[in-house]
Amino acid sequence: MNNKYQIAIDGPASAGKSTVAKIVAKDLQYVYCDTGAMYRVVTLKAIQNGIDLNDETKISEMLNDTDIRFELGEPVQKVFLDGNEVTEDIRQTNVTNSVSTIAAQKAVREVLTNWQRDLAKNGGIVMDGRDIGSAVLPNAEVKIFLIASVQERAERRYKENIAKGMETDLEQLKKEIEIRDHKDSTRKISPLTKASDAIEVDTTSMSIQDVVNEILRIVENASKRK
Ligand code: DC
Repeated sequence: MNNKYQIAIDGPASAGKSTVAKIVAKDLQYVYCDTGAMYRVVTLKAIQNGIDLNDETKISEMLNDTDIRFELGEPVQKVFLDGNEVTEDIRQTNVTNSVSTIAAQKAVREVLTNWQRDLAKNGGIVMDGRDIGSAVLPNAEVKIFLIASVQERAERRYKENIAKGMETDLEQLKKEIEIRDHKDSTRKISPLTKASDAIEVDTTSMSIQDVVNEILRIVENASKRK
């Protein structure tokens, strides 16, 4: 199979994008890039430096001097900010609840979009996010849009949190997911949208492996069309 494809996987929060994207990348021996983690790293750095999250000028200055790297890791990819590992820090609630503010800023999106295009320029990449098929990689050979009900997504996040020993409330998680969906879908720049040529996969009653198999089937079909 052609190993130079760009595979874009978009969808709302907790639809299972990173879990399946990572497995698909491993199966195809592609690079995996979690673009949500990039927005989270920028948010974390701004919080750590006491920068007002609405101060776009200060945030964009901060980006001139910010280094984000990924490393292969199990069960999750390792993330580094300016040389320090922040894999767990970027998943903390304070980052999760502030990241939409950062992700709505034009300067941040421009810088991160350029980094993402650069990572994907030679293909052989699975990239997940909100705007990959619609804005970052409009020519991606495969575009998937993953969805799942709010109830299902909240339950998944709840189980993940329990597994990590984090105490959370299911109803609260549902509210947070709804708020994030709303902010991600209604922001002015590159909102969460399904690209017209993306294939929608509703994962509500599917296992992780079922979703992976479905995406591999879509990739296989794309390679037949070439
Ligand atoms: O997938 P996630 O929850 O880690 O994403 C974190 C936030 O980043 C989410 O609120 C939306 C934003 N995001 C984005 O705006 N564009 C992307 N390509 C990826 C994530």
